[in-house]
Amino acid sequence: MSSPGLIAITKADGAGVEAAAERLASGGLVALPTETVYGLGADARNPRAVARVYAVKGRPADHPLIVHIASGTELEAWAVHIPDYARRLALAFWPGPLTLILARSAAVGDFVTGGQTTVALRAPDHSVAQAVLERFGGGIAAPSANRFGRVSPTTAEHVQADIGERLDAATDLILDGGACRIGVESTIVDCTGPAGRILRPGAIGVEQVEALIGPLTAGSSRAPRVPGGLRSHYAPNARLVLADAGDASQIVSGLAGAGTPPSRIGFLALADEPRPDGVVRLIAPRDAREYARDLYRALREADYLDLAVVVAVPPTGSSGAAVAVRDRLRRAAAHDAG
Ligand code: TXA
Ligand code: MG
Repeated sequence: MSSPGLIAITKADGAGVEAAAERLASGGLVALPTETVYGLGADARNPRAVARVYAVKGRPADHPLIVHIASGTELEAWAVHIPDYARRLALAFWPGPLTLILARSAAVGDFVTGGQTTVALRAPDHSVAQAVLERFGGGIAAPSANRFGRVSPTTAEHVQADIGERLDAATDLILDGGACRIGVESTIVDCTGPAGRILRPGAIGVEQVEALIGPLTAGSSRAPRVPGGLRSHYAPNARLVLADAGDASQIVSGLAGAGTPPSRIGFLALADEPRPDGVVRLIAPRDAREYARDLYRALREADYLDLAVVVAVPPTGSSGAAVAVRDRLRRAAAHDAG
């Protein structure tokens, strides 16, 4: 367990959850599963623990973290001036893949929000995350458990491979709760204005949100304070090329002509999209939801296989999953565009 270098993975059974809560309470870091992606958690009231989260991720200190809470009944402890529409969102979608940006209460330190006067709050819909929150009894500040700018982890093994060397087996823990059900990060809604505004698309789509609270402020124009909002993010090593349905074979021929053999090209598309000859089909999702669930595993697989290029045909449609996958693919494709 305490061999330096690679931190062990702990099963998320009763003892594992208990150990995780203890480690959080003593200022350690706990990587834990949520329904979206794995988070790297710290006691949201402990400045030193939260500082280590930034250090382990290599994340700039002005990029704020999400505070995970057990349920909407804890909203008041962390936020003030909560608009009615935000309460309705929490009531309808929590626990779930939705993060609300609200004016922060005095309980929230600058060290969590990167100095901002707002705080990001989310109640995760995962039995392990909920069990840890309950045993720990406080808020857990947790960004996705990957190195800054890289693909979010959807399994405990991804966490171990990505940041395991930077964790300390004596104080930290990686909890294994299996693969994440949703696979892309939560929908973020800014609730500090007269109407909500989507800052990051996720599994809960615009239509679902608007059906509940009415029209959102248009445009997800994201300031750099949202790292998921940087154009180049969620990037694999392989170059990602986007293709329209039916165009992949032509693009592969072009790449082959320019010196990249099909055997070094990965293919990402729904299962019913024909695979160009010779390329490596990384996943075969049947719909946008499965696409979202398997996307990050596929991008990691591409790097593992040392592929040079991944050709991706994004899913169409306006569901939350489809929009979120298109968003992440666009950002991953912006990789070498800087
Ligand atoms: O699904 C998720 O949201 C996952 C799981 C672990 O909960 N977490 C996650 O955290 O994706 P992270 O840190 O990788 O992304 C959180 C996003 C960042 O883009 C951050 O800038 C934004 O939320 N954010 C946090 N606090 C904010 C604030 N006060 N105002 C605007 N954006 C904020
Ligand atoms: Mg992240």
